Amino acid sequence: MYRDPVQSLEPLPSRPAAIRALRVGMIGIGTVGSGTFRVLARNQAEIAGRAGRPIELVMVAARNLVRAATVVGGNVPLTDDPLRVATHPDVDVVVEVAGGTGPARDWVLAAIAHGKHVVTANKALLAEHGAEIFAAARRHGVAVAYEGAVAVSIPIVKALREGLTANRIEWVAGIINGTTNFILSKMRDEGLDFAAALVQAQALGYAEADPAFDIEGIDAAHKLTLLAANAFGTSVRLADVQVEGITALQRVDVACAEQLGYRIKLLGVARRSEEGVELRVQPALVPASHLMAHVNGSMNAVMVKGDAAGVTMYYGAGAGSEQTASAVIADLVDVARLDGTHAAQRVPHLGFHAHAMSDLPVLPRAAACCAHYLRIPVHAASQIEAVSGWLAGQQVPVRQVALAAAQPGMGAQVLVLTQPVRQGTMDLALHALQAHPLVAGKVTALRVEELA
Ligand code: HSE
Repeated sequence: MYRDPVQSLEPLPSRPAAIRALRVGMIGIGTVGSGTFRVLARNQAEIAGRAGRPIELVMVAARNLVRAATVVGGNVPLTDDPLRVATHPDVDVVVEVAGGTGPARDWVLAAIAHGKHVVTANKALLAEHGAEIFAAARRHGVAVAYEGAVAVSIPIVKALREGLTANRIEWVAGIINGTTNFILSKMRDEGLDFAAALVQAQALGYAEADPAFDIEGIDAAHKLTLLAANAFGTSVRLADVQVEGITALQRVDVACAEQLGYRIKLLGVARRSEEGVELRVQPALVPASHLMAHVNGSMNAVMVKGDAAGVTMYYGAGAGSEQTASAVIADLVDVARLDGTHAAQRVPHLGFHAHAMSDLPVLPRAAACCAHYLRIPVHAASQIEAVSGWLAGQQVPVRQVALAAAQPGMGAQVLVLTQPVRQGTMDLALHALQAHPLVAGKVTALRVEELA
């Protein structure tokens, strides 16, 4: 009689006794840490079912122990010494969610040196010290996981490192800062002013401890470096990102962009061409009909263009306590699964194995090519044709020209959308235009991204 060889075996115990919990030490119990604590506790059984073992918080380091105790209760030992967590023999994996770069670098390197895996949501840390941290992790055979560092709830690191591994990635572009997207949405939809919108973003826990990181575009630049490294196999290179935030953005340009059929979003764009890699964070016009224009509030979205998959797009919360916890815990589950495997069999930290990483040349600013929006204050509406003709004479090809709809207290303004033009050509033309007798005030130039 046929006997199924599998069924004839003794059934396996549902959880072998030898499998012990993954012991987590957490540094920081603020917005992200407290969310991680709550979600770990709430979804304990499901998380263990996915990880194959329980994930237990065994120690927390916090600056304010009284406040920390109100979050974790009496069951988790607390310390005010992060290095104790980073080096403690009972900790298998260190979750660094304290933020900052100097001390956090020391804690993470100490954890790695003590053979512990690290999970962090600290994009500034990895953007500034990633090369050193990943090299140390490779030497010690431990994982450094950071899904929560980029577009928090969206598994974009996993998508780039795993789902899209067949592709040569051509570009990545997205809204990767929740705070600024929230501010821009509030300004557009509710007419709120910049400062009031920022205060709301801070109250909701979206903003960085120093919100200048958000509004100056630096936080998005941190995330862009990590995306670009995973997309192109380049080293993490913060210094190469051209960064412009939203502080100089004027409400009048939001209205003028609308008039032309566009919305303004703070975009991070990483693109590679034969000539080099372009990395930039800037407020840019996107077509109002494009999905990206409808990413509002603190939501984020990332588009990836691969040569095989074509364009894929990912959408989700870009900031928030449990939204970030979702990514941090997903990393913990990955660590629970990979702990004990040989490092060479794991997904590499930046998607490519170290020997396959390269330093692609950086495209100089002047060589980058992009369409532009210009708002040119003029002395009289009748000068519209003169402005358009003058631009064409400067090798700036004009695609559309219009007069801005009248706004209280605003003189005549010529709006121009250009065809793609080299930034060097555009910069020279802008310099000359600003000094031209036709022009009655400061010229505003923003990039236009069709995201096609
Ligand atoms: N301050 C960040 C943001 C938090 O607003 O996107 C998430 O990284």
